[in-house]
Amino acid sequence: MDENLEILFDEQAIEQRVAELAAQISRDYAGKDLVLVCILKGAALFTADLSRHLTIPVTLDFVHVSSYGNATVSSRTITVKKDIDTDIRGKNVLLVDGIIDTGGTITFLIEQCRERGPASLKVVTLLDKHSRRTADFPIDYRGFEVPDIFVVGYGMDCGEKYRNLPYIAKLDPLST
Ligand code: PRP
Repeated sequence: MDENLEILFDEQAIEQRVAELAAQISRDYAGKDLVLVCILKGAALFTADLSRHLTIPVTLDFVHVSSYGNATVSSRTITVKKDIDTDIRGKNVLLVDGIIDTGGTITFLIEQCRERGPASLKVVTLLDKHSRRTADFPIDYRGFEVPDIFVVGYGMDCGEKYRNLPYIAKLDPLST
């Protein structure tokens, strides 16, 4: 393993927590259809695994945004690089993120989705870096809370590296 990495959540811990989240989501949406919206790229692996555990009818869509400027919500510009294809009016939508940090990305996407008139709109994130939040909103489903450290793996990157790791690790800041 890369010597700059320290495992926070191994494959087994992730698998178990994802299964628990999926069971809870399946119960909450029993008898309903769900549109899962994967927030690229960070949520790619999480969405794939979560969707496989869901026992309700699900469709998948993908959104990719870019953000510029510094890390506070008020000074960041977010633009859509790839929008969803689904007409979500009247549908149950679950936004799937890998990590919520300041909350800027998810706040922007919640606003975008709301304007399109879904029947319901909720958020699931695998990781919640709550200490960094500058925008407040409810997170409906959360995998793990993480402190303010740089995390990589299981979809999350540093300069596009490490996304394919099956575990989530802390990256030594001195190595970046
Ligand atoms: C990361 C992550 C979240 C977002 C969270 O995406 O995947 O979507 O940042 O940060 P925020 O709460 O401060 O907005 P990033 O923009 O790094 O793109 P990526 O998912 O393609 O790596």
